[in-house]
Amino acid sequence: MPTIQALVTLLRAIAVIEMKYPFYTVVESDFSAVNQFIIENLNSHVPLVEEISSYLIDAGGKRLRPLLVLLTARACGYKGQQHINLATVIEFLHTAMLMHDDVVDASDLRRGKKTVNATWGNPASVLVGDFLHSRAFEMMVEIGDMGVMAILSHATNTIAEGEIQQLTNIRNPDITENDYIQVITRKTAMLFQAASHTGAVLASATAIQQESSKQYGLHLGLAFQLVDDVLDYKGSTEDLGKNVGDDLAEGKVTLPLIIAMRNSDSQSVNFIRQAILKGGVENLGEIADIVNNTGGLQYTMDLAEREIDKAIECLTHLTDSEFKHAMTSLANFSVNRSF
Ligand code: IPE
Ligand code: IPE
Ligand code: MG
Ligand code: MG
Ligand code: MG
Repeated sequence: MPTIQALVTLLRAIAVIEMKYPFYTVVESDFSAVNQFIIENLNSHVPLVEEISSYLIDAGGKRLRPLLVLLTARACGYKGQQHINLATVIEFLHTAMLMHDDVVDASDLRRGKKTVNATWGNPASVLVGDFLHSRAFEMMVEIGDMGVMAILSHATNTIAEGEIQQLTNIRNPDITENDYIQVITRKTAMLFQAASHTGAVLASATAIQQESSKQYGLHLGLAFQLVDDVLDYKGSTEDLGKNVGDDLAEGKVTLPLIIAMRNSDSQSVNFIRQAILKGGVENLGEIADIVNNTGGLQYTMDLAEREIDKAIECLTHLTDSEFKHAMTSLANFSVNRSF
């Protein structure tokens, strides 16, 4: 018998995947094919692998990165079927990273469900993450495009660097805006960039189209993480399906906090510095108020908007099509989202 929580989670997943946003509907049949392909490729000789990977994958998620592959490939005139495989590879890489991320961040809620680490423990989350990551590489080799492989292997390596760089920044109140931008470029924007870039490469787009697709993904990814970091202060756990306040809890200094320190009086700066050094959510309410009142959230949102303007600007190099329009809607959604 499924529990009520499991049913709520399932309904949310269906609602997200069937959202009637134009960026889903223009590639509806491709998107269904990806969802099917994801399930088909989770097979393993070890039952626990399938159980755990299906657990997180069945919870859905927005599937924005595979969507980006589909849209870019189609916008660049791709007529084949390998974009389904490529989109699946990207979602497997993303899911693997989430399994590792929730261990690193000690998070216990993801996609509206208890995290894998909270359910099966850290070792299982790390190892099933490794399984999905390596399955992604097996599938990538089957696609057989050296250009795609070069982009994805470089991207996964850079993402790992970004996560490690962020780890070295933990509980350091002197992190600068520049340090922060470096981390989010590596840990998040890189996979968005790889998704749109490989979509264009697979489609054998012109050099200028490949470059502008790549830049579109970069700017979209930066905006996406900026908004994620705002939502970590002012979002709702119910909408997000993950806990708010996780960043401060682990002493992670994101842009809203950097700006709050820049704009605060010395007493508040001291208070924030202590909270960063200590970690924990004890002072979350007060800190969130300071972050909001000193313009930390607004500044971060403004930067996200500027990144989205740049992303949309990149699209001028693509031929006009419903897919290109969907890429504009996807960019706008990324800064207006609450989940
Ligand atoms: C979560 O990404 C990780 C970040 C880069 C912030 P998403 O918000 O795209 O996660 P899902 O796949 O929709 O759950
Ligand atoms: C994104 O950063 C991490 C990845 C690149 C996987 P976060 O740690 O902020 O992501 P969430 O908020 O847990 O989804
Ligand atoms: Mg996290
Ligand atoms: Mg993290
Ligand atoms: Mg976050």
